[in-house]
Amino acid sequence: MSEDRKTWRIGVAGLGTVGGGLLSFLDAEPDFAPAGGRAVVTGISARSRARNRPVDVSAMQWFDDPVALAKSPDNDLFVELIGGSDGPAKAAVEAALAMGKPVVTANKALIASHGAHLAALAETKGVPLLFEAAVMGGTPAVKMLREALVGEDVISVAGILNGTCNYILTEMETKGSAFGDVLAEAQRLGYAEADPTTDIGGFDAAHKITILAALAFGCAPDFASAEIEGVDQVDLDDIKLAHDLGYRIRLVASAVREGEAVAVRVHPALAPFGHPLAETRGSLNALFIEGRRIGRIFLQGPGAGAGPTAAAVAADIADVMTAVRRPVFQSPASGLKFAPVIDPANRISRVFIRLRVKDQPGVIAAVSETLAGAGVSIDGFLQKSAQADGSVPIVLTTHATAESIVFEALERIARLPSMLQAPKLLRIARL
Ligand SMILES: NC(=O)c1ccc[n+]([C@@H]2O[C@H](COP(=O)([O-])OP(=O)(O)OC[C@H]3O[C@@H](n4cnc5c(N)ncnc54)[C@H](OP(=O)(O)O)[C@@H]3O)[C@@H](O)[C@H]2O)c1
Repeated sequence: MSEDRKTWRIGVAGLGTVGGGLLSFLDAEPDFAPAGGRAVVTGISARSRARNRPVDVSAMQWFDDPVALAKSPDNDLFVELIGGSDGPAKAAVEAALAMGKPVVTANKALIASHGAHLAALAETKGVPLLFEAAVMGGTPAVKMLREALVGEDVISVAGILNGTCNYILTEMETKGSAFGDVLAEAQRLGYAEADPTTDIGGFDAAHKITILAALAFGCAPDFASAEIEGVDQVDLDDIKLAHDLGYRIRLVASAVREGEAVAVRVHPALAPFGHPLAETRGSLNALFIEGRRIGRIFLQGPGAGAGPTAAAVAADIADVMTAVRRPVFQSPASGLKFAPVIDPANRISRVFIRLRVKDQPGVIAAVSETLAGAGVSIDGFLQKSAQADGSVPIVLTTHATAESIVFEALERIARLPSMLQAPKLLRIARL
């Protein structure tokens, strides 16, 4: 920091969507946090020096190597906006922390995979490691759990944490377009990456819910234990049939605590019309936090984009400048442990089952007898007219049942001679 400790010299590695947004923000408002002093970007790093950036960067010191920027004595605070759980982002964050420099990052993959190690490094050195922008972009979920709910006994966090998937599901429903067509359009408009695997495979939402679980339950972030299903298996017929039964399909990320054990999961799930998750449309994010004393809190807002995400990064920069000090994950890093995982065999869910059967008598009786025999009770049922190919689509919803029992029943149903394809199961969100 400069002599009077009023001007913070910021090093920014990564000048893409978020980094470019931050440069614009700080260029327009260097005094955005008056109690903390002035924030001035003095050093930058990206892949291409020649690429145009949203502000004039000619007075900023250029570094080809983000690790060299992180180690440079010419900045007081290092901001990592490159991305990726390993590689240059991790090396640069480690380098900055190792020399006792505060770090702000938007990198959920890094924090979900290496959060406990990085928190230990930061706390050993006595410097902040902040990542508000990593979850829900511009909507303050991290600070909500780390600060506002520090005394609360949180039992679950669940919501929609990936705007790309929500955009795709919303477009499929409203336009009646197939998954691949909507994905291609989202890529054309810049809402989805050229390689969409991280988003549509559920991994991005899993990174975020892993981080929220650590903040909510005081455990180490444990991405490796997250159960992950993406939206790539959801087709237009699922969306239409769920709609006919009064539901919308959403990619729901959840973290639940039972005693010491925790379950972190991402999967497509049905939410009934009128429920805030069903009504969260387009690229918006939404989150429920449930605590023993507070009951339920609902947050909704932008989860991505240059402006909202840069505002969240700036809020972290302000915390560094105003010397706000808290453990990285609410609990001190020295006591962070991986929580045991809740045994999936005990999981209770309501489910939506989709079948395609031959158009012949006795099929429905066979299905309902198989379910009843296994102890699965049907809540809703819908049979559509026979299709041109002679098949009949059937969907049904169940009351809450152990998932293991439903899976066993579905194996038996799959072997019925009237089945034309393997039964498909989607969970109904526990809301
Ligand atoms: N986009 C969002 O709305 C959003 C929201 C929340 C969190 N995040 C997180 O924020 C981070 C950045 O995301 P983004 O969308 O801004 O990514 P992006 O647009 O792809 O930008 C990445 C930046 O990193 C630079 N870079 C790549 N490899 C590098 C290397 N080896 N050394 C130095 N710089 C390198 C790139 O340089 P060039 O410009 O020269 O190619 C680019 O400026 C990620 O962790 C992401 O998960 C993003």
